[in-house]
Amino acid sequence: MLVETDHEVRTGEGSVYRAERSEADIATREGYEANKKRTEAPVKKRVFSGVQPTGNLHIGNYLGAIRNWAAAQAAYDNIFCIVDLHAITVPMDPKELHLSIRQLAALYLACGLDTRYCKLFVQSHVRQHAEMSWIMNCFTPMGWLSRMTQFKSKGGEDVDSVGTGLFCYPVLMACDILLYQTDLVPVGDDQRQHVELTRDLARRFNSLYGQRVFTIPEPQIREVGARIMSLDDPTNKMSKSDPNDNSRINVLDDANIIKKKIARATTDSLRLVTFDAERPGITNLLTIYQLLTGQTEQEIEAEFAGRGYGDFKAALTERLVATLAPIQERYSALMNDLPTLEAMLKQGADQVRPMAEATLQHVKDVIGLG
Ligand code: TYM
Repeated sequence: MLVETDHEVRTGEGSVYRAERSEADIATREGYEANKKRTEAPVKKRVFSGVQPTGNLHIGNYLGAIRNWAAAQAAYDNIFCIVDLHAITVPMDPKELHLSIRQLAALYLACGLDTRYCKLFVQSHVRQHAEMSWIMNCFTPMGWLSRMTQFKSKGGEDVDSVGTGLFCYPVLMACDILLYQTDLVPVGDDQRQHVELTRDLARRFNSLYGQRVFTIPEPQIREVGARIMSLDDPTNKMSKSDPNDNSRINVLDDANIIKKKIARATTDSLRLVTFDAERPGITNLLTIYQLLTGQTEQEIEAEFAGRGYGDFKAALTERLVATLAPIQERYSALMNDLPTLEAMLKQGADQVRPMAEATLQHVKDVIGLG
C-alpha cells in the first residue's frame, strides 16, 4: 500500500520512495536529503539509539535495547551512539569515563552490532550534538523538562545542587535523534517520555517555522523486556547507577557471580513458578528467562509445574551464562585490540558528521543564525 506524506511515499515497513516535490520544498528539505542520501531506489528506515558509558552494562540494557538492535539491524539504516556527553551530567572520573567509552564500543560489537549495517560512534566526537543542543535548549519550555520523571528521580530532593546538564539532558537526547532525521528509536520503557518530548520539540519547531525541518521519530518499545526490574527490589527498574551490584546481572559478570546473584534474587514465599503481576520478583526472573529462551509464558509455566524456585533459578542461571559467555569472549578479544576499536569509532564519527552538519546548517539557516 502506498501512503503519501508531505515529503515522501512510504510503501509499508521499511521502504521509502521519494515523491514529486516543488522547487521550494526541495530547498527546505536540503538537510533531510543530505541525511537520507535518498535516491529513487527503496531505502531503509533510519534507526538511532544510544547507551551511556556509565558503569556496567546490564542484562536490562541488553534485553531491552542492544539485543533488539542487533536482531533487526539488517532491516534498517542504523546509527548507534555512545552518549558520553550524557554521562557527564553526573560526576564521572575522567579515566573511568575514557575507559567506559571503549568498553561500551567493544560491548556493542560483542553483542552483535555489525558495522556493515550500523554506524557506531561517540557523541562527543561529533560536535554538532552539543551545538544543536544549545539551540534547542532555547526552544524548550522549562515546564516540559521539569515534568520529566527521570530528572525527578535522578535529581533527588536537593535540586539546587544538581548540575543544569541533568535538567537539559532530554534536549541533548532529542538532538541526538533529530540530527539524523531518525524514523525509529528503539529503547527501553524508561526512555519513552524522552522520545515523546523529542516528538513534541520537533513538531513545535516545524510548525513555528512552517517547514518540515525535522522528521518526527517513532519510539520502538518491545512489549516484553522493555523494563527489566532490579533483582533486589523488583518494584524498581534494573539500573547501572544502583549502588548495589547485586541488583543487576552485568553483561560481564562471570558464571559464579551470576549464580550468586540469581540465588539471592528476591522472590516470595508462594514457591509457584508462574507469571503473576502480584509477585513482581518471580515474574521479573521469568521474563528474563522468557527473553533468553524465546518460549511462551505457558511453555515456561508447564516446564516448571510442580518444581520449586531452586530448579527454576538453576535453569535461569544456566541460560544467562550460556548467553553471556560468548559475548564476554568477543569483548575480551576486542578490548585486546584497542587501535582497531579506536579506528572503528573514528570511521563511525566521520560517516555521521556530514549528516549531523546538514541538519544543523538547515536549522541555523531557518532561524537566521550565521
Ligand atoms: P541508558 O544508558 O540508561 O540505557 C540504554 C538503553 O537500555 C534501556 N534500559 C532498559 N531496558 C529494559 N530494562 C531496564 N531495566 C533498562 N534499563 C535501561 C534504555 O531504555 C535504553 O534504551 N538517555 C538514554 C541514552 C540516549 C539515547 C539517545 C537513547 C541518549 N541519547 C538517543 C536513544 C536515542 C539512556 O540514558 O539510556
